[in-house]
Amino acid sequence: MSATFVIAVDGPAASGKSTLARRLARALGLAFLDTGLLYRAVGKRLLEAGRDPSDAAAAVAAVADLRPEEVDADRLAGERIGEAASKVAAIPAVREALLPWQRRFARTPPGAVLAGRDVGTVVCPDADLKIFVTAALEERARRRFEELRRRGQAPMFAAVLDELRERDRRDTERAVAPLRVADDAWVLDTTALDAEAAFAAALERALSVSGRRAVAGPTGRDANP
Ligand code: C5P
Repeated sequence: MSATFVIAVDGPAASGKSTLARRLARALGLAFLDTGLLYRAVGKRLLEAGRDPSDAAAAVAAVADLRPEEVDADRLAGERIGEAASKVAAIPAVREALLPWQRRFARTPPGAVLAGRDVGTVVCPDADLKIFVTAALEERARRRFEELRRRGQAPMFAAVLDELRERDRRDTERAVAPLRVADDAWVLDTTALDAEAAFAAALERALSVSGRRAVAGPTGRDANP
């Protein structure tokens, strides 16, 4: 077995891929990176500066300027930042600028689980295992709706559904690194699975591909840049 083991977990918004990827990393003793946070951090910067997230020059400048502490999940949640992220993510120069960091992260022993949209197709096309996590749009909207309510918000289901539909459209139709299933990906449809069942299925798959055993406890490299 090579010194590093890399798992790419891709899928549409609210498919549960980040939670699944984080749990897999923990169970396998690998590092974890939610690549969506990189795009979210850039999107947030532009929103705060009052700039249009589709402004390529401003977005590229924001990448160059990004500080590691900005890539923090707690500060980057929410659909407003998610939408800005999907706009900056459609800019080729932004994607290009974020590539080296992601690849270095993946290749650092003992390896990593990376969650995103293009990990298996562009960032790590030679990943040892590629998982495409998906679920029906209505089910993803229901989960996102419940999550927002748990956080004390009062969302409208129809609005949540529309936002997800629009984000799916932008992520799948963009010219660079669109969301698509890699030819050699294993598709995990969680429409009828709860988080526990989805994790169990993915772990079984990862263990059989890697020849590893599950480990107890995190390794400490649950990092963002
Ligand atoms: O996964 P998350 O919702 O945090 O991602 C926010 C946005 O960032 C996505 O809608 C997508 O446009 C973009 N993204 C991407 N490539 C990745 C991860 C996220 O284009 N690898």
